[in-house]
Formats: sequence, C-alpha cells, structure tokens
Amino acid sequence: MGWFTADIKNVDDLFLHSLQDIYYAEHQIEKALPDMIAKASDAELKKGFSAHLKQTKGQIKRLDQAFKKLKEKPKGTKCPAIDGIIEEANDIAGEVDDKMVLNAALIAAAQAVEHYEITRYGTLAAWAKLLGRADVARLLTANLNEEKATDKKLNGIAKRKINKKALAKRKPRPDRVERVENAALVAASGIPSI
Ligand SMILES: [Fe+2]
Ligand SMILES: [Fe+2]
Repeated sequence: MGWFTADIKNVDDLFLHSLQDIYYAEHQIEKALPDMIAKASDAELKKGFSAHLKQTKGQIKRLDQAFKKLKEKPKGTKCPAIDGIIEEANDIAGEVDDKMVLNAALIAAAQAVEHYEITRYGTLAAWAKLLGRADVARLLTANLNEEKATDKKLNGIAKRKINKKALAKRKPRPDRVERVENAALVAASGIPSI
C-alpha cells in the first residue's frame, strides 16, 4: 500500500497505515541497534544503546497490543524514511576511522532515528485520541515518552563528552584557529554571538 493511493480512504485507514509504518520502523531499529552497540567504543554510549534496544522490544510489544485493541493483525508496511536514515548511518559509520569521531557519528544517527520516531508517535497518539481510542493513545504516548527521554539522554552524552572527544581529534588548521580566536574575542567582549 502506497501513500495517497485509493487504499487510504479515510483517517482510520491513514491511522492504520501509519501504525504499520512505525511497526516496520521499530523492527528495523531493533535489527540495527546491535550493530550500533558493537561499533560504539564509549561504555556509556554502549550502555545507552543496549538499554534502548531493550526498550525497543517493549515498544514493539505495545504496538502489538495496539493492533490487538484495534482488532487488526500486527503487520508492518515498508517505511522508506527509516530505511534511508539507517542506510545513511551505515554509510557514514563505514567511512569513519577514528573511534571518537565514530561515536559522535553514531549518536547523531541515533538521534535522527529518535526524532523520526518522535514525529510518528506524536502524530499517531494525536490521531488515536481524535478517533476516540484513548486506550491506544496511551500505548503510543508511552512509546513517545521513551523516545523523547532517549533523545534527551543521547543529547546529554554527546554534549557532555562525545562531541568534545571527537573535536579533540581535529588537526589544527590556520583558518580554523582564526575562527576560534575570533570567537574568543567575541566572548571576551560580551557581545552575544549569533
Ligand atoms: Fe522506538
Ligand atoms: Fe527509539
């Protein structure tokens, strides 16, 4: 079933299609995470990815329950968006040699996934409420909240250490030094930087 074809006749069909879309996406994420865990060299990041793999399995169970409540068979529909995000992450990871830079790339890729999931679950929970399915909306909101918390956690790890460690690997270049000096001057002058 493709988007905007005659297969989707009303909001109920659209809702079901989107539920199948995230069901497929979660299964792809479940398959992709072990590789990300293996590639991460930072213990906290590894632990964070592992925790989210466990969470992802629980999220799939919630989606199974949602299908059940709707009296629909749990099934996925191909989601090119998540396939693209995962494919891009694999491509980039394959091109990074340095471990610290790879950790930064892995977090960036994981956050792209989280943001995709947040937008999908946000819409799905809103639609479920509009369709009078508060029971299904609760399950979707539980997943939404976990995605938001994961994104926040990853953001924290990136800002606190991973990005700094990746940055430390930069080779000095005259043009960059100049920018850093300019930034230091702006900071010292008290003029807010843009
Ligand atoms: Fe998820
Ligand atoms: Fe997630």
